[in-house]
Amino acid sequence: MHDKTATEKAPPPTVQREASAVPRNLRRYLSLDDFETTARRRLPKFLYGYIAGGAETDASVRDNRRAFEEYGFVPRVLNDVSGREQTTTLFGKTYAAPFGIPPMGSSALCAYRGDIVLTRAAAAMNLPMILSASSLITLEDVRRENPDAWYQAYLAGETSRIEPLVDRVAAAGYDTFVVTADVPVPPNRENNIRNGFQVPLAITPRVAWDTVSHPHWLFGVWARTLMNHGMPHFENMDAKRGPPVLAKNLMRNIGHRDQLAWKHLELIRRRWNGKLVVKGLISPADARIARESGADGVILSNHAGRQLDFAVSALRTLPEIAAEAGGMTVMLDGGIRRGTDVIKALALGAKFVFVGRPLLYAAVAGGEAAVRRALTLLMDEINRDLALLGIRSIGEITPDLVRRFAS
Ligand code: GLV
Repeated sequence: MHDKTATEKAPPPTVQREASAVPRNLRRYLSLDDFETTARRRLPKFLYGYIAGGAETDASVRDNRRAFEEYGFVPRVLNDVSGREQTTTLFGKTYAAPFGIPPMGSSALCAYRGDIVLTRAAAAMNLPMILSASSLITLEDVRRENPDAWYQAYLAGETSRIEPLVDRVAAAGYDTFVVTADVPVPPNRENNIRNGFQVPLAITPRVAWDTVSHPHWLFGVWARTLMNHGMPHFENMDAKRGPPVLAKNLMRNIGHRDQLAWKHLELIRRRWNGKLVVKGLISPADARIARESGADGVILSNHAGRQLDFAVSALRTLPEIAAEAGGMTVMLDGGIRRGTDVIKALALGAKFVFVGRPLLYAAVAGGEAAVRRALTLLMDEINRDLALLGIRSIGEITPDLVRRFAS
């Protein structure tokens, strides 16, 4: 039942959707940003703050939007743009669109079975989804739901922990292993501290009030998870099951992330036969080293503004990195909310992009159907934008379609 390819499972959605094909309760969501309002209402403040927030002053979160807003389009006209399509081939697989779902930790704490919801929606739409190492559902279960899921690791610089994890991910059938590079130390996210969200999760009076005053989450996510699946554990940080989300030893489990170095990537390269991707770099020098270390791809990212505050948007170094990528696949995340953003990133040299927060908000707002609605909205925007730009396919997106508004 799980051996069909994603292409067989779900044909790319048609362009002009009948309004009636969209469930009534999802019709009011007209853009990716629309899901946040519902999610914000439903989630305890500590969880909403965890998703929405960045590090320190949120300067990087803002730059991830500003960088896109600094570019406009120079459309072409009278080109016969009928028969448009946006399929995109990435690492030998053809996906329905040039975007996918990036890793998001603790998704199953925010939405009931969050990782499964996201991965099923991605599979149904023929898009890739990356499972976070800090997820609460086993990587084996996620892979069974979606044979196109990728795995993203948070690694300590300890070979004895890395090797068995790589073997577990391979044994589960994954073909793409993503190493996150921008987390040598835990970030400084003051909103988490202010809202009482800490690791390990502690039930302080503030958190207790926050949860009981959000019954949709308390019953629909937390109690339902406990009842049906028991206390959530960090399932995928290591080869063995990690501690429960309430565990006191959670910090110790993170280990020596500050010792992680390129030599560990090279070690993984030797052990891992599938595609190897480095996520979380924005320096052209690092992109070069990634290529020399044998990475098949990089995801340029400032971790959605959640690690180093004032790290610039990945869009700012993308053209330089793309120009010297050679055969390495350049992808990007951070700040993408519209079809126009996707096209801008592709015009500046990205092969593929990932869209995070809005899809987690959609999962919170309406489960798998809402995530599919969000993915469809983005695809429909891209389809319309291609026509308005005077082109018919992703391959026709070129740098001369964009101009900087201002420097
Ligand atoms: C996890 O990667 C996070 O950014 O919280």
